[in-house]
Amino acid sequence: MSGGPDGLYSDVMFAPSLPVLLDCDPGIDDAFALAYLACRSDVETVGVVTTAGNVGQDDVLRNALGLTELLGMDAPVARGADEPLVEPMMTAEETHGPHGLGHAELGECRRRPDERSGAQLWVDLARKYPGQLVGIVTGPLTNLALALRVEPELPTLLKRLHVMGGAINHRGNTGPTSEWNIAVDPEAGHETFQAWGKASKRVVLGALQATEGIRLEERHRQAVADLGDHPIVAVLADALRFYFEFHQADGLGWCAYLHDPLVVAHAVTGRFATTRPLAVDVELAGTLTRGQTVGDELGRWGKEPNVDLLCDVDAEGFIEHLISTLGKGLKNLR
Ligand code: RIB
Ligand code: CA
Repeated sequence: MSGGPDGLYSDVMFAPSLPVLLDCDPGIDDAFALAYLACRSDVETVGVVTTAGNVGQDDVLRNALGLTELLGMDAPVARGADEPLVEPMMTAEETHGPHGLGHAELGECRRRPDERSGAQLWVDLARKYPGQLVGIVTGPLTNLALALRVEPELPTLLKRLHVMGGAINHRGNTGPTSEWNIAVDPEAGHETFQAWGKASKRVVLGALQATEGIRLEERHRQAVADLGDHPIVAVLADALRFYFEFHQADGLGWCAYLHDPLVVAHAVTGRFATTRPLAVDVELAGTLTRGQTVGDELGRWGKEPNVDLLCDVDAEGFIEHLISTLGKGLKNLR
């Protein structure tokens, strides 16, 4: 099934081991995204970059190393920058827990980070897999922006770029109009959208109006806890319980919005959402709206679209797919 207007995804099944780089800020929903990738036998996660966001760089790096070790993923994990490009660092321990995985404890981890920076790993992998690497960012865009400054050809080197971020003509979850990943580093968002536009390429963007359709309920929380005896299950279940507690404390009820896995699943399957083209940029100067992701729905800028925006999300179908993929995949992990 084609997943987008310009045939983003061929009808042919992806060749085995689609190479993927995940740039993330684990982070509870990022942890689910990593586990999902580990459970996909048609995907090879060839690199992980950690970006400070949900929690600081030390914690996101420790979490990414521990999660990939637990999941048997031997992809290099590269430490990203400690700070955003311009914006002072902000983190969200109230949402993701003191160290980023809610109530979960990862314990000792033997894995060490790759010696390269996150930006260098982006560049090296894009050059190693020219036209084949799918880049996915589920945190702030800091390290992708730094990589673009090293290798401006990234938009044409990558097969596709998928990003979880922004809230377009939809309320924010950080400021009144801003979504977390973009709010943490607005300049990086601006530089990314500009670079893709300049290269006449489009970022596949999962914004809040799409990802908030993935609202886990108690029955889903139970299903995660019942995913079997792989050690990652307790980590995901303990993390998710904290996430439910946060959403309840935030007045949203006993639930959890699981943003990142939808973007990752769409990136590797082309399913669970359609896309529509849109010209997008990030507000940098607004006193009330800095960090807002703006979509030019009426074409007032006279610019070509630089985004394929996820829409028409099949939320129930995706949640079922996520839980069944984890259920089946975890049984096969070493
Ligand atoms: O706004 C949601 C995004 O911010 C998700 O990626 C979540 O992990 C946080 O990073
Ligand atoms: Ca994230």
